[in-house]
Amino acid sequence: MASPAEINSAVVGVGHLGGFHAQKHAALAREGVRLVALVDPAVETVREKIAKGKVPEAPVFSSVEECLAAATAGKIPRIHAASVATTTETHVETGLRLLDAGVHLLVEKPLAMDSKGARKLVEEAERHKLVLATGKVERHRVMEVFGRIQGQPLFIECHRLSPFPARSTDIDVIFDLMIHDIDLMLAMVKSPIRAVHAAGFPVLTRHFDIANARFEFENGCVANLTASRISVTRTRKFRVFCSDAYLSLDLQTGEFNRYTKDPREPELEKAIAHESGSLTVGDPLLAEVRDFFSAVRGGHGPLVTGRDGLSAIEVAESVVADVKARLRELPPGTLPAGEFV
Ligand SMILES: NC(=O)c1ccc[n+]([C@@H]2O[C@H](COP(=O)([O-])OP(=O)(O)OC[C@H]3O[C@@H](n4cnc5c(N)ncnc54)[C@H](O)[C@@H]3O)[C@@H](O)[C@H]2O)c1
Repeated sequence: MASPAEINSAVVGVGHLGGFHAQKHAALAREGVRLVALVDPAVETVREKIAKGKVPEAPVFSSVEECLAAATAGKIPRIHAASVATTTETHVETGLRLLDAGVHLLVEKPLAMDSKGARKLVEEAERHKLVLATGKVERHRVMEVFGRIQGQPLFIECHRLSPFPARSTDIDVIFDLMIHDIDLMLAMVKSPIRAVHAAGFPVLTRHFDIANARFEFENGCVANLTASRISVTRTRKFRVFCSDAYLSLDLQTGEFNRYTKDPREPELEKAIAHESGSLTVGDPLLAEVRDFFSAVRGGHGPLVTGRDGLSAIEVAESVVADVKARLRELPPGTLPAGEFV
């Protein structure tokens, strides 16, 4: 793995999230990261953002090809690593081109529109021996408090509800929102999934806007995840029950409550200890981007690998498959005519 002291970086897709990625790359200048290119077909929009100070100054290119050609011609330095924050449907094509050029990648979630595309990215990264990280900012936020959970999770209950209008409506709520909690669940429960039972409905878009999935793991753990992008209020609740511990996490406010029970103490009041606090990772995107560059330097694998991104997509696909199977069982006329995607 290449481990240049100075890492020349690029951000590909400088929309809402890509703009933040560019800020984080620039913020790591003292740690040897040099933002040398911004890539987006909306060149003028990116230049306006630069002029307004919303995106850091760097040469702007309208395509990956144009950017790579500029590097080959010596107009900009060779790019070692890039954030890919384009619309999800272009992650695979864009990512494969960059991997082929020897660029380490941090690809925003979901890694791809489907597991076939995600697998291609993972296999190509492995073949080229390049870092492929998946952008799952929530993991960077919660890993410290997750590390304090004692014992095997037995039951997980999670609500991730957002108001409409939502962004990312090119994908369904399972790939847009539930995938965050699928990733957290998979990071926590180290056991194969035995069964998935899911329900979901299109309400305001032609994709599923609300969904619930119940996962049963081979080790007996059960997880119940609900995601909606048509909610009146925004909710981000993640609760984990273990045999002698309970963690309640509000990902909206960052507050958590942890209860532990001493199994040797017969008096219930004395047996239960309570701790409350706030998540300490102030800037999880900065933590994610820093973790990626550290992996590029060869310090460790990224916290959320391309394989993790692929696993989350495979599980999301199993949810979508069960939702679709259930919809097919509905009496005719229950939903408006048309094929839902
Ligand atoms: N991790 C998170 O919490 C989180 C949150 C929001 C979005 N996302 C993900 O980030 C990605 C971007 O989302 P967004 O909300 O910033 O979208 P956006 O529409 O604001 O930005 C996408 C940008 O990509 C550009 N683009 C499209 N095709 C391109 C190509 N081939 N090369 C270069 N640029 C291209 C577009 O012009 C646009 O500027 C999506 O995959 C989305 O799912 C992740």
